[in-house]
Amino acid sequence: MSDKIRWGILATGNIAAQFATDLKQSHSGVLAAAASRNLSKAEAFCAEHGGEALSDYDALLARDDIDAVYIATPHDSHVAWTHKGLAADKPILCEKPLGLNQGEVLNLYGEAARRNVLLVEALMYLMHPRMHLAKQLVDDGTIGQVTGFSSGFGFAFPFTPEHRLYNIDRAGGGILDIGIYPLTAARYLIGEPNALSGEARLAPSGADAEAKATLSYDGFEAHLHCAIDTELEWHISVEGDKGRLKISQPWHPGPENNQIVVTDENGAETIHAIDDARPLYAIEADHMGVLLKRDALTSDLVTPDFSINTAYWLDRWRAAGCVKYAADKLGATGFHGAALKHGAHGSVPTVALNGLNKPVSKIVLGTDNQIDAPTMAAMGDAFFEGGGNCFDTAFIYSDGRSEALLGEWMAARGVRDELVVLSKGAHPPECSPEAVTRQLDQSLERLQTDHLDIYCLHRDDPAVPISEWVDALNREVDKGRITLFGGSNWTAQRVDEANEYAAANGLQGFSLLSNNFSLARMEDPVWPGCLASSTDEFRDWHTAQNFPLLPWSAQARGFFLNWEDSGLAATRHGADPTDDEMKRVWGSDANLERRRRAFELGDKLGVSAIQIALAYVVNQPYPCCALVGPRNPMQLQDSLDAAQISLTQEQVNWLDLRD
Ligand SMILES: NC(=O)c1ccc[n+]([C@@H]2O[C@H](COP(=O)([O-])OP(=O)(O)OC[C@H]3O[C@@H](n4cnc5c(N)ncnc54)[C@H](OP(=O)(O)O)[C@@H]3O)[C@@H](O)[C@H]2O)c1
Repeated sequence: MSDKIRWGILATGNIAAQFATDLKQSHSGVLAAAASRNLSKAEAFCAEHGGEALSDYDALLARDDIDAVYIATPHDSHVAWTHKGLAADKPILCEKPLGLNQGEVLNLYGEAARRNVLLVEALMYLMHPRMHLAKQLVDDGTIGQVTGFSSGFGFAFPFTPEHRLYNIDRAGGGILDIGIYPLTAARYLIGEPNALSGEARLAPSGADAEAKATLSYDGFEAHLHCAIDTELEWHISVEGDKGRLKISQPWHPGPENNQIVVTDENGAETIHAIDDARPLYAIEADHMGVLLKRDALTSDLVTPDFSINTAYWLDRWRAAGCVKYAADKLGATGFHGAALKHGAHGSVPTVALNGLNKPVSKIVLGTDNQIDAPTMAAMGDAFFEGGGNCFDTAFIYSDGRSEALLGEWMAARGVRDELVVLSKGAHPPECSPEAVTRQLDQSLERLQTDHLDIYCLHRDDPAVPISEWVDALNREVDKGRITLFGGSNWTAQRVDEANEYAAANGLQGFSLLSNNFSLARMEDPVWPGCLASSTDEFRDWHTAQNFPLLPWSAQARGFFLNWEDSGLAATRHGADPTDDEMKRVWGSDANLERRRRAFELGDKLGVSAIQIALAYVVNQPYPCCALVGPRNPMQLQDSLDAAQISLTQEQVNWLDLRD
């Protein structure tokens, strides 16, 4: 790499020109090439800004004299060009919004992490020191306790159906184009909200011309407003119990627009100003320069988590305003634009289950926390191409949404036959043999399949004679609607009874259990009626019979994370563990010692404690496939990597305090 970062710009429109203009004043970057779909446009662009004119975006990505690529195309092509750029090993600064929905953004960050390439969403104003100073002033209590927030961005651009701003096929509308600024300003300055409500006034094209959102925080609200057909005041105002902080014209800071006004309780104003002579996009380019110098793979100013959450809230805002894009519906190809290929990016060790004609990956992807089709697809694609093939769901998860989303993804991607689908039914209050058939009708319909590879009774009702359970399950086997069956949260004793009855009557018996099992033993049930296979006795039972276990919460729901330092996230998702659960369920002295040992062994092997905890599960002396619930493709990859860790029997015993 030369001393200066040699930039290549994809596209020669409005923002590309602003970036190229400012780049001349950056400390670290220089324009090496710009590509347009039209050579004469590229030539005119480079005549003004320098660099080599190219008539082909792909040709720019193929050049090895380009150190970083700025993607300045319209929203709807960000995912495709970012994929191509990452595949060409180019660090990418991509215009906002990075993706059209959270699924696209999850997918892109997963892809960047997998390829070890830097990817940053170009939210330029968050890279400017004025916003950092504003945050510091808020954090330092300059205006006291925050009591309110408002922000707006709006301009009057006449309705032009074919323009990217209004064209719904180009993902037009104000929310994604400029609503993203007030939304990110609120979250950057005062943190993630608890919920969003909103509304939109749609243009005839279906794109939102004007939209409002209210973010709920503990004790106050933040009000966001954007419009593309109406002038609005451009501002950020943070109200506190001791004053107010205001930034006028917050979105394009620069040497001439560098102030923050703080007004105290008595009305006295203090002006804070930033002294940086560089224009905005030079600062953005220099931020990339710093990251590249550090060999960083992510930005610390616009982190992957921040971008992923931005997409999450934009999705909620769009949903509230009834703004829908084609990208929200799944197609036959992955986000990379090609058909999915199982194991394209890796492999996962498997186990064979008697009676099933497919191996089962030792990591099983849980789908109870998926919120919509694109996020399900981001996780499903990554898992499938990473070598996994087994998915876990249940009749009751998210009121049926989990099964429906998994079904939608399998059908769209055309991968059902390559998968092992595990679903569960007959959860209380409908824990009866009669419910098995009725719920299975619905499960199969939601999953868009005619059979489950594995069916588990979600709970046992010991009052139900074992013969009734086994008979009901065998009726479904005979109809071809389930291949193998087992119990989730069942005791070994009841499984023994079931299998004795089945053997005596020439019927199929239980093939597996799906109880809880992890390096941390469940001291108190996470939920009423749930059961673990963790005691020495239960482990010995599995070992003696070589009886398969597909355990849930195989990572003890976050217990092996470094939560002392970061705290358990104030989460949006009900499936995430709380501090209370960490103590009540997992926090015994013995578990804390197991956890300490997981950290110690992790340090020794150069992996994380949570990976060691997962390796412990898949290194049992009987077939054991761990159910995991990662929230993003990076966490998923960690789990897939953990399945490759071989532990010796001594290490397994030592981790479990059996040394
Ligand atoms: N950060 C900011 O301050 C800021 C400000 C404005 C816009 N943006 C973002 O930047 C992106 C581009 O916005 P813009 O205002 O620069 O748009 P624009 O002026 O319309 O330019 C977009 C360019 O993308 C290229 N392009 C590729 N495929 C295209 C297609 N199918 N239709 C139209 N153009 C296509 C064209 O360049 P060629 O003809 O040369 O190939 C076009 O000139 C948007 O995602 C927007 O959100 C950011």
